[in-house]
Amino acid sequence: MTENEEIIEMTQEYGAKNYDPLKVVISEAEGVWVKDVDGNKYMDMLSAYSAVSHGHCHPEVVKVLKEQADRVTLTSRAFMNDQLGSFYKKVSDITGKDKVLPMNSGTEAVETAIKAARRWGYFEKGVPEGEAKIIVCENNFHGRSTTVISFSTREKYRKGYGPFTPGFEVVPFGDIEALEESIDENTVGFLMEPMQGEGGIVVPPTGYLTEAKELCEKKDVLFIADEIQTGLGRTGKMFACDWEDVDPDIYILGKALSAGVYPVSAIAADKEVMDVFDPGSHGSTFGGNPLGVAAAKRAIEVIEEEDFVENSLEMGRYMRKQLKKIDSPLIEDVRGRGLFIGVELKEKARPYSEALMEKGVLVKDTKGTVLRFAPPLIITKDQIDWALERVRKVLKEE
Ligand SMILES: Cc1ncc(COP(=O)(O)O)c(C=O)c1O
Repeated sequence: MTENEEIIEMTQEYGAKNYDPLKVVISEAEGVWVKDVDGNKYMDMLSAYSAVSHGHCHPEVVKVLKEQADRVTLTSRAFMNDQLGSFYKKVSDITGKDKVLPMNSGTEAVETAIKAARRWGYFEKGVPEGEAKIIVCENNFHGRSTTVISFSTREKYRKGYGPFTPGFEVVPFGDIEALEESIDENTVGFLMEPMQGEGGIVVPPTGYLTEAKELCEKKDVLFIADEIQTGLGRTGKMFACDWEDVDPDIYILGKALSAGVYPVSAIAADKEVMDVFDPGSHGSTFGGNPLGVAAAKRAIEVIEEEDFVENSLEMGRYMRKQLKKIDSPLIEDVRGRGLFIGVELKEKARPYSEALMEKGVLVKDTKGTVLRFAPPLIITKDQIDWALERVRKVLKEE
């Protein structure tokens, strides 16, 4: 048995079966490249579902992480630490929001936004206790906690996990009339992805974000943008909401916030919303720990210094254009924004992600038939060409 096979066997024997990864065992990574235990090189075109937007092991972020690890890693929020205030300030600067609440995973940040919206509804809007409603979109993905899957529309994520959390209503993504009809006097928030990721890379119809935000403002409902995957340059703007100059009431951030070196997530909102939290009402032992937030601060600076947003926009345009030129009977659609691209196939995409892996390109299928391309935002044109050559071969079955 090779080392590769041994690791696969051990991982499968001792691990729960909640994932079905491609059979590539990564042991090293740098920039857009990863290496498996046998020394084979692959280009990472998934970037850990957009968490490694900076490329693997970005030297500036890793340096800060190492230095911070030697100083202090965890204080809990029982005490203060010298890194958190300046992290808040950085997130406040990029979002334009007054205040920030740090968590770890994306799901926790979504839960935090739900709590914020409900409290705001009860304390500020005057919704009767226990009656708050949050509107979400069909085909959403906001994480895996019991509350969050309560409003998922995918059976796979919900099966066998009930009873579910009440207080959510689902409307079709992109349908402004349905949103308007759904809003009632107890509606506290509209939680949405400004571009759906796990749902198959779905760009909303032009004007939808603007109209939804206007409607929320008119009806006194919080517009909550889950930018965990779309934020921080992924779609060719700092935030996907920027495509329509929409300023959400709550931003939810995660993934690339710490360049993929440590789990850091957060929500950002103005005082009117964030001040609903008082001591003891919410928290997390690791949320806001100095190791994570020191890395995240540097990660945000790197996004600005290295102009990820512009590169994502330009390289994304180029890549989509080239993908559209591939003349293959397999391709149904090519769509996306920035370096967040979906190639919808006429059949199951998994065999094609396996074939691409054989050729040295790592992507993952999503929603069954969609190949999702979300390379690190540092990717160059030459590197995209290298990948496209292989994509062409696989999709044209050469
Ligand atoms: C839009 C969105 N929200 C929330 C999450 C959940 O984040 P995490 O897996 O870090 O809990 C994801 C993860 O893919 C996501 O894409």
